[in-house]
Amino acid sequence: MARGARRPAHLRVDVVTIFPGMFRAVLGESILKRAQARGVLDIRLHDLRRFTHDRRRSVDDRPYGGGPGMVLMPGPIYEAVESIRQTEPAGRRPHVVLLSPSGSPFTSARAQRLAARRWLILLCGHYEGVDERVLRLVRESVSIGDYVLTGGELPAMVVMDAVARFVPGVVGHADATAEESFTGGLLEYPQYTRPAVFRTMAVPSVLRSGDHRAIARWRRLQATARTAARRPDLLGAAPRRGRTLQSAT
Ligand code: ADE
Repeated sequence: MARGARRPAHLRVDVVTIFPGMFRAVLGESILKRAQARGVLDIRLHDLRRFTHDRRRSVDDRPYGGGPGMVLMPGPIYEAVESIRQTEPAGRRPHVVLLSPSGSPFTSARAQRLAARRWLILLCGHYEGVDERVLRLVRESVSIGDYVLTGGELPAMVVMDAVARFVPGVVGHADATAEESFTGGLLEYPQYTRPAVFRTMAVPSVLRSGDHRAIARWRRLQATARTAARRPDLLGAAPRRGRTLQSAT
């Protein structure tokens, strides 16, 4: 690479939304902010209304066949994606993801796969839905859960955050490697820090024993019991010696 040339980010993410302002707080703080500052993530926001041509900057219209609400029109979305594509050489193709309550479930495994892509475009749906012809542009539709939010902006932020944690250099090495084996694993075991006794609640003595094998056994048991109580659906898939679901630090 030529001296002074910018090293390409590990992951570029373009977000198409009618509410770019919603993203600024999330992208302007903490780990995502630092990753962008270091050039590991390249996140670009695009206001869908910039790709409209009428005076009212309309992005939606009533559904054919009737029914409640408004549907995002295909025109501005196609123009937005085409304009974003033109910012890179023709050979580079973005992986286009639509955030939608009718998408496939978002999981850790899916986040890991998306992180391996070099370039994502996240399309935030809104109102009652998105014109079906937009799906021609889309490689996958993603839902973050079985509930309907007011739009795809919060889901896009959730996806970006979860995907970013798998991009090399975004979080510390130990955290990143802990993530690798947790898909289909167990919920996280209970964690404690100082003080050893807080308002009569003592830290389990095994954790202060210094016996690492006993600690590992205890954690495994706790994680299994917790998973059985809260997420029995995960238990069938738990690897015998796998790690546990790690929360973000
Ligand atoms: N848009 C509205 N609700 C959503 C959800 N649950 N997941 C993804 N996109 C959405």
